[in-house]
Amino acid sequence: MSRRSLLITGGAGFIGSHVVRLFVNKYPDYTIVNLDKLTYAGNLENLKDVDSKPNYHFEKGDILDVEFLASVFKKYSIDGVIHLAAESHVDRSLHNPAEFATTNIIGTLHLLNVAQTIWNNDFQGKLFYHISTDEVYGSAENGSFFTEETHIDPMSPYSASKAGSDHFVKAFGNSYKLPVRISRCSNNYGPYHFPEKLIPLMINNIINNKPLPVYGKGENIRDWLFVVDHARAIDEIFHKGKDGEVYNIGGNNEWKNIDLVKFLCYLMDKKLGREEGTSANLITYVKDRPGHDLRYAIDASKLIAETGWRPSVTFEEGLEKTVDWYLANRQWLNNVTSGEYMKYYTGMYQNR
Ligand code: NAD
Ligand code: TYD
Repeated sequence: MSRRSLLITGGAGFIGSHVVRLFVNKYPDYTIVNLDKLTYAGNLENLKDVDSKPNYHFEKGDILDVEFLASVFKKYSIDGVIHLAAESHVDRSLHNPAEFATTNIIGTLHLLNVAQTIWNNDFQGKLFYHISTDEVYGSAENGSFFTEETHIDPMSPYSASKAGSDHFVKAFGNSYKLPVRISRCSNNYGPYHFPEKLIPLMINNIINNKPLPVYGKGENIRDWLFVVDHARAIDEIFHKGKDGEVYNIGGNNEWKNIDLVKFLCYLMDKKLGREEGTSANLITYVKDRPGHDLRYAIDASKLIAETGWRPSVTFEEGLEKTVDWYLANRQWLNNVTSGEYMKYYTGMYQNR
């Protein structure tokens, strides 16, 4: 196995922390550099099981800061990038689309520019791998699935900003021959998921006996994948994928929101020793999200055919692992919901 020096952006976030963990543990000969701004969504607590490993390095900083990016590339002789840093929540994007355009499009453009400049057109052995989302395809008609050829048709400011970044990645591959890959995954769930997203929000509210806000009639459909399986797919694509290609990632696991929330209620009543039906009484239908995509559904057959990747757990197994993790890590939940860790990190890194 050749030595590599990998820059993983957004490694303190939900998916990024699982990618960092997998690469640090599986590739002890690689240098793994986690570059993260530590926004509200970034939390070094997510990585405390790997942060003392000799092949792990953390750099706090912003993908919008070109000089900082260039200094990190030089310091570690970076030869590969896995780019996850982004603003990631659709609801937040509806309130502040400009922030999403800036971080997700301009931030990605800066990272591409720095990679191209520092690598100085010597792209042998180099790779820029961009982590995108199935949401760039818009909403899927009943019975149809997103393939890599599906027309890009983003519907929210979040997905529009991710589509914009995808286009720039493709353009750098086409115009400058930068070796690029893109993957587009369906909705993830699992440990370390910030409790603003559906599954951890519902788990947190069930624990605390708070209302469970279901948007509209709860009929929207999402295709859920356990986050560890996303990280495993990223590993496969990084090592076995082809330059210039797009790969869809998904577990063929569609759920209507309301069915998923009811299933979670059932599971958590059992775990918490509550009478069946207790948590479901907390379900509250609220005003729908504007422009709410009805359905996402991924066709991952290209990834499966080229790499042999398959999900390692069923949804039932993954959801149970997730619930167990949140119940065993209530302090983590309390910290991220109280903002305690934000205060801590602001103090700790106030010089940057
Ligand atoms: P997240 O919000 O949990 O984490 C994002 C990370 O990026 C955080 O650690 C944050 O501090 C960091 N970050 C934000 N702005 C930054 C900046 N300017 N400079 C440096 N770091 C910055 O997001 P996530 O759910 O882990 O998603 C990671 C990536 O995967 C995103 O690109 C997202 O679009 C994509 N994705 C997410 C899902 C999902 O279900 N969550 C599905 C498919 C694809
Ligand atoms: P979310 O986790 O925000 O992911 P995305 O919008 O990127 O798919 O939402 C998943 C689904 O759950 C989506 O259809 C919106 C819905 N939802 C609710 O019904 N209530 C909530 O409180 C949240 C956060 C989401």
